[in-house]
Amino acid sequence: MNLGVLISGRGSNLAAILSAIDDGALPARVALVVSNKPDAAGLARAAAAGIPTRVIPHGAYPDRAAFDAALVAALRDAAVSVVVLAGFMRLLTPVFLDAFPDRVVNIHPALLPAFPGVDAQAQALAYGARVTGCTVHLVDAGTDTGPVIAQAAVPILDGDDRDALAARILPREHELLVRALAWIAAGKLEVVPPASPGSRATVRVHGERTWFGLGSEP
Ligand code: GRF
Repeated sequence: MNLGVLISGRGSNLAAILSAIDDGALPARVALVVSNKPDAAGLARAAAAGIPTRVIPHGAYPDRAAFDAALVAALRDAAVSVVVLAGFMRLLTPVFLDAFPDRVVNIHPALLPAFPGVDAQAQALAYGARVTGCTVHLVDAGTDTGPVIAQAAVPILDGDDRDALAARILPREHELLVRALAWIAAGKLEVVPPASPGSRATVRVHGERTWFGLGSEP
C-alpha cells in the first residue's frame, strides 16, 4: 500500500504512521508527503525519515479545483494508492475525491458527527461535553462528514483546557489511524452503499472491533 500523506502542520500523525511502518505494525510505505504550507514541521520529520516531500501552496492556484488537480498529479506521480489527511487543513473537491474513490482517510479529534470542523477540542469544551474522542473516517465532499471507520472515546475532566484535552486525545488518534490503515492494507474495509436515496454510505470493517471506549486499550 503506497500512502500519500497530506499535512499542514506538526505531523505527529505522520510520525505515528512512520513508526508503525518501522515497527512492522503497518504493511505500507509512505511514497510522498505533501504540505500546503512550506513551514509545516511535519515536512522536516518526513525528510529526516528519507520520505519524498512536496510543498504545494494552495494560494498559488486560482481555485480549489486547480489546487486539487495539482495534488492529484503529485500523488499519481508517486504511485499513491491511499491518501491520508493528517492535519491537512483544506477541504477537498470532487476533482480530488474522484481520483481516489473511497481511498482518502481523515483523522478528526472528536466523535463525529459531534464537533466537525476546526478546533474540535475547543468546541467540545465550550459545549460542556463530558466525553469526546477521535474518529477515523473516509472523506467525502463535506466537512468531516464521510463514513466512519473507527472511533475512540476520551473523557473530558474538570479543569481541562483546550491543550490538556488535545494532549489526551492525540495518542488515541495515533493508535486509531494506524489501526485503520492496517485494516485498509489487509482489505478489511467494505463500503456499504446508501440503502436508499438520501441515506448515507457506511463502512463495515470485517473481523475487527471499531470502537474503543473509556478505559479500554485500543
Ligand atoms: C490532529 O489533532 C488531527 O486530528 C487534526 O489535526 C491535528 C493534526 O496533528 N485533523 P498532527 O499534525 O498530526 O500532529
